Amino acid sequence: MVSCPHRIADVSRSAPVVPAAALLTVALALTLTSCTGGGGGGGAGAAPGSAGLRDPYFPRLGNGGYDAGHYALTLAYDPEADAPLRGTAVITARATRHLASFNLDLKGLDVESVAVDGVTARWKRAGQELTVTPADAGLDEGKTFRTTVRYSGAPQTLTDPDGSREGWLPTADGALALGEPAGSMTWFPGNHHPSDKAAYDLTVTVPEGLHAVSNGELRRESTEDGRTTFSWRTAEPMASYVATLAIGTYEIRRSTAGGGEGEGSGRLPVYVAVDPSQAEDSRAVLGRIPEVVAWAERYFGPYPFSSTGAIVDRPEDSAYALETQNRPVFPGAPDLSLLVHELAHQWYGDSVTPKSWRDMWLNEGFATYAEWLWEGDHGGDSAQETFDALYEGDYFPDAASNEAVWDFPPARPPSAARISDSPVYERGAMVLHQVREAVGDDAFFELIRGWAAVHRHGNADTADFTAYAEKFAEEAAPGADLTPVWDDWLYGDGKPPLA
Ligand code: TRP
Ligand code: ZN
Repeated sequence: MVSCPHRIADVSRSAPVVPAAALLTVALALTLTSCTGGGGGGGAGAAPGSAGLRDPYFPRLGNGGYDAGHYALTLAYDPEADAPLRGTAVITARATRHLASFNLDLKGLDVESVAVDGVTARWKRAGQELTVTPADAGLDEGKTFRTTVRYSGAPQTLTDPDGSREGWLPTADGALALGEPAGSMTWFPGNHHPSDKAAYDLTVTVPEGLHAVSNGELRRESTEDGRTTFSWRTAEPMASYVATLAIGTYEIRRSTAGGGEGEGSGRLPVYVAVDPSQAEDSRAVLGRIPEVVAWAERYFGPYPFSSTGAIVDRPEDSAYALETQNRPVFPGAPDLSLLVHELAHQWYGDSVTPKSWRDMWLNEGFATYAEWLWEGDHGGDSAQETFDALYEGDYFPDAASNEAVWDFPPARPPSAARISDSPVYERGAMVLHQVREAVGDDAFFELIRGWAAVHRHGNADTADFTAYAEKFAEEAAPGADLTPVWDDWLYGDGKPPLA
């Protein structure tokens, strides 16, 4: 038996509030209504950008017709104010077709003004869609344009199809913004789909005494007139679902780890922010971040970002941990497996990001497999033993959980409510173990490292993975047959036979 920390959090998220089919119907209806407006601008051949990217599970997320490259977010947070959050978002994007109008995702909050390249633009809102119509003849294909949105209000907390809470989570001493899969649209407008990654500059002003912690590196911190401003920069591409903002009272610890320039070089800055109530309980585990990063680099290749760390809030602040880029968020002191899981996501999820929410197993299968590898390397069960326990049905303490592993194929969750269920996590890891069985240890470890290298800072889907593995196996493990792994383990219903 191996403990499985993320499942503890999953339990509280297992009851869908609304049947997924109903949600899908509502989602499609909203997409259609928001598509009909927005016209008016644009020259010949210009058309509106689409109001969604047809994600199989979250069709309204993201927007078509442009590619966001950079977000400059300037935020002010004041818990005492009528509008606790005031923001200016400057989004630099490139039109991928001739656009008469385009959409941003923004849920709640009041929009005060929108400008495109400094010229006031028309805008309207329908649900989470903010449709912007530039004043002139539209945006030519290939044009880089800058959209400035001024907004304010009290950001919302969202409830996901699986019943979990995300978006803007008020805490005892501030707030915590978490975005998987859809929560980031509650605190800034953008192209909120994992397929459109971008660089970020985030400047946040908070009452003196509070900290504002985000992704990337802290460039500047200054206090004036009772308010402190923190400037964070994320230079490497980031999907908006792993963007975070934690405002509150934190103990800050800075150190360095190996990474980037090689193990033990001490070149990777570590920035850890811990709620004071969690400081004592988390000290020992967080002290092992450099060791976990160095261990992970041996399997997965060079750490993909310019800094690392963690944010630890109180257990009641969030029901789950999240692999927020550079700096995973933990509700309460994490145990070592959960730290390994979230740090492994920096390679698998944050650097190599799914093209759609259907490819979730590429995140969770890898992060779960990383836990198995860590256990095996540190005196616990080997990956094979963990696989066997799952296969035999004595991994989880109860029969229902052991059975649930076989509920659906990892690459085909039946609904949005189930993208974080055990077939995605545990059976996803079992898929990887089956690949390992088929190609042998040496080829397998080269394969997972190569996968992280080939799609570093990019996006990939399940078909990319199977094609990559097939091609890799042809060279490194001639004769290996991966077909049953895909047919039975990845896409097949029910419990697969063992080869
Ligand atoms: N990705 C998180 C983890 O494994 C878990 C999680 C948080 C999640 N929110 C989610 C998974 C929403 C699916 C959907 O640590
Ligand atoms: Zn995970």
